[in-house]
Amino acid sequence: MDKRWRAISGILGLALASMLVLAGPGFTASFQVLDQGDPERGRIALTTQSFLPAAWKREAFELVRERLGPETPDPATNPNAYLAAFQDRYGLHPAPYPNNGLPMGLRLAPGKKDAPTGLHIDCLVCHGGSIGGQSYVGLGNTRLDLDPLLKDLAVANGERPPVALFTLNSTRGTNNAGMIDVALLTLRNPDLSFRTFPLLTGANIPELDTPAWWLLKKKQSKYYDGRTPAHAVRSNMQFLLGDLTRAQFEALEPTFVDIDAYLRSLSPPPYPFPINKALARTGEAVFTENCSRCHGTYGSASTYPNKIVPLDVIKTDPARAKGLSDKFVAHYNASWFGELDKVDETCQGYQAPPLDGVWATAPYLHNGSVPTLELVLNSKARPKKFTRPSSTEFTQYDPVNVGWQFEAVETVDRTLSPREKKQIVDTSRFGLGSQGHTFGDSLSDAERRALIEYLKTL
Ligand code: HEC
Ligand code: HEC
Repeated sequence: MDKRWRAISGILGLALASMLVLAGPGFTASFQVLDQGDPERGRIALTTQSFLPAAWKREAFELVRERLGPETPDPATNPNAYLAAFQDRYGLHPAPYPNNGLPMGLRLAPGKKDAPTGLHIDCLVCHGGSIGGQSYVGLGNTRLDLDPLLKDLAVANGERPPVALFTLNSTRGTNNAGMIDVALLTLRNPDLSFRTFPLLTGANIPELDTPAWWLLKKKQSKYYDGRTPAHAVRSNMQFLLGDLTRAQFEALEPTFVDIDAYLRSLSPPPYPFPINKALARTGEAVFTENCSRCHGTYGSASTYPNKIVPLDVIKTDPARAKGLSDKFVAHYNASWFGELDKVDETCQGYQAPPLDGVWATAPYLHNGSVPTLELVLNSKARPKKFTRPSSTEFTQYDPVNVGWQFEAVETVDRTLSPREKKQIVDTSRFGLGSQGHTFGDSLSDAERRALIEYLKTL
């Protein structure tokens, strides 16, 4: 195998999984398998098990201190303050389950020969978040700075930092899980044996905002482009492609059936501030009139149309939808991952997501390019560059426009450190465009206010 590709696959090691996507048709026998999934077994597996051998030695967690600056508390004498500093630097959150003193997303993993127990990242590095001081499994991580996390842990482990051949994240909170999966799968043959050279497929996926897992239970198709059947369990295992053999994938499949059942059991946290009920009722009528045809209805008789909206209608940044090349889709579909559930061969656009718990999942759109709900509904006022929040505390939250407080940035100061630059989203970058979804533009200010009040109730 080409050395650079081996470096990526080793480093990302376990790297990411799931991005390939789906679409309505093609339900198969895996339905029956799924029905047997047990959410509680899935919860336990997801929060206690490492599915990959360690990428770094256990001490790397403390040794990273050298990369965190001189003010960083000493992990030996002040482990809690060190944990908080580590979490803040890389955008991780306290684990809401026992995790051996590690943040959510990092876990103990069985070691390779010389180190009996080491560390690895897991699904929750991207799929675990917090808001208002509370951590949630399944809330997309809006603070994650994945690239330095992987590089600094490698250096602390005594290795050269991995070379990524694509941007893992240009800003905090987005991540290029899609390209990681593409890179890893193109290192395999369809039977999952390793190739000597990567298959060149021309796929090019941009960095993305991680979707909330609690939406999955309503969906018939998943991923932003809606090209993968939502019940496809194997697609959720792509993250493990760095290391596992086909036999290991097969052995783990029943566990992932349980994990999928657990993901479907999750619900969003309710809006934590007062809601003006009369105003929300007015907003519901605006929603029914303007939004339900794509986003469904909520409350006791909820419906979800599972619409994949063509690019020429939605007009949001097309890079993610177009990023999966035909050649890659064919490779995926021919592989073990596509054996039961195929990725749709046609690119259409983006799936209109369910809006449950939308108050908690800013910034918005598949690429996190719009900071508040108000701006989702008012496309002309969207900032070209804006800051990400410095924490997920409610002091950073905007309950009026709903989302994270931000500052619009005119020009990025060149003297900012790389870390400071990553606080800024630049919508002129590949895949991060904030155009499109203009369905709220013609509303009056009063209608938009009422609609936002209603969205808080979902
Ligand atoms: C590096 C970050 C990252 C990691 C690690 C990761 N994911 Fe994801 N996940 C994403 C992103 C980003 C998406 C959206 C991808 C898209 O639609 O193109 C996603 C999408 C998904 C979806 C589809 C959600 C939907 O409603 O469409 C599921 C299910 C999922 N991931 C499960 C997992 C599981 C299980 C793991 C661990 C084995 C995992 N992911 C690891 C970032 C990650
Ligand atoms: C023609 C179909 C359609 C209509 C009508 C529509 N939307 Fe959407 N909406 C979408 C699609 C598709 C996306 C995903 C676009 C993307 O991520 O690029 C989306 C995304 C969103 C998001 C972002 C969700 C997130 O988690 O990032 C919100 C909020 C939203 N819509 C609210 C509304 C509201 C409120 C209305 C009514 C004024 C509305 N939409 C009308 C199709 C529609």
